[in-house]
Amino acid sequence: MRLKDCHNFHDFRRMAKQRLPGPIFNYIDGAADDEGTYRRNTSAFDDCDLIPNVLRGVTDVDMSVTVMGQKLAMPVYCSPTALQRLFHHQGERAVAAAAAKYGTMFGVSSLGTVSLEEARRIGNGQPQVYQFYFHKDRGLNRDMMGRARQAGVEVMMLTVDSITGGNRERDKRTGFAIPFKLNLAGITQFVIKPGWAINYFTHEPFKLPQLDGHVDMGGGAMSISRYFTEMLDPSMSWDDVAAMVQHWDGQFCLKGIMSVEDAKRAVEIGCTGIVLSNHGGRQLDGSRSAFDQLAEIVDAVGDKIDVIMDGGVQRGTHVLKALSLGAKAVGLGRYYLFPLAAAGQAGVERALDLMRIEIERGMRLMGCTSVKEFNRHNLRFRR
Ligand code: LAC
Repeated sequence: MRLKDCHNFHDFRRMAKQRLPGPIFNYIDGAADDEGTYRRNTSAFDDCDLIPNVLRGVTDVDMSVTVMGQKLAMPVYCSPTALQRLFHHQGERAVAAAAAKYGTMFGVSSLGTVSLEEARRIGNGQPQVYQFYFHKDRGLNRDMMGRARQAGVEVMMLTVDSITGGNRERDKRTGFAIPFKLNLAGITQFVIKPGWAINYFTHEPFKLPQLDGHVDMGGGAMSISRYFTEMLDPSMSWDDVAAMVQHWDGQFCLKGIMSVEDAKRAVEIGCTGIVLSNHGGRQLDGSRSAFDQLAEIVDAVGDKIDVIMDGGVQRGTHVLKALSLGAKAVGLGRYYLFPLAAAGQAGVERALDLMRIEIERGMRLMGCTSVKEFNRHNLRFRR
């Protein structure tokens, strides 16, 4: 399969599956428990339909948005995700470069495999999100914030849905752990997925530069679930977060807010954004999809804080539906990770290009020349 044969999410996923060792593919593709929330994230978009207007003169389409003070050329951004160099040796470098090319925001994770400073240079002035996990080690938390500030990161994004690990049964079956080791299973993968293996083992060794010097993987490998459960602080409270927001004194957003009550508290403590998210269905299976929950949250706080959503977005029309309900922007995760795994920077660029084309075509067919024109009249729910 070649990159030019990839026309949508499913094609990229198939190409990534061909190239990646099973445990790595399943780490990206998998979710918690029965993966019901993961499936619902995408199928939720099918419960409503777009209603186009015609004959409106749609020659010039402007899909730019401003979110948390950042101007983005398109209403989607690359959400922070972990371990990207495990998927392709270019990792975060590829994502930052592709985001720069398409004029959008990109995230670097606490569990990123390229330093936030290097990703920033490659991002070439595009707004950068730093995804923060609240560790038990408060010294580490302070250092990480200081470092992000020093680097000039525009948006601090604290993940609040991961104080303990989700039950990812695919990872349990495959024994997925970081760093990926050349043990017997690794050697088998080397033989059956030579492209991935040459790519991985001939480039610089796997690192977690955001955590260097602080987190000891015990010299061995660690599962993501163990990292969440052992390293992150389950006592994290609204008071802790309020102190962080004050200390950061800039754009601060909470990722993983789902209830109206929490959305209101985020406003009260001075956050400038919230991301409705269930972590790609990877944490609490059975929780509601962000799209299903979007209208309720926008109605409650949409005039006080930027409401963003992620989860299940695979099409330009999914983005248009979210914008119609009042989202300020939409985060992409697996949508760019499979292309990254399939073909590195060229893959991510192609995925963003297809998304840009789909959004532009969708806006024309909807009779909208600017994102501001989308509202609930554009949309009808079937039930
Ligand atoms: C995950 C974390 C690392 O979902 O974000 O695997």
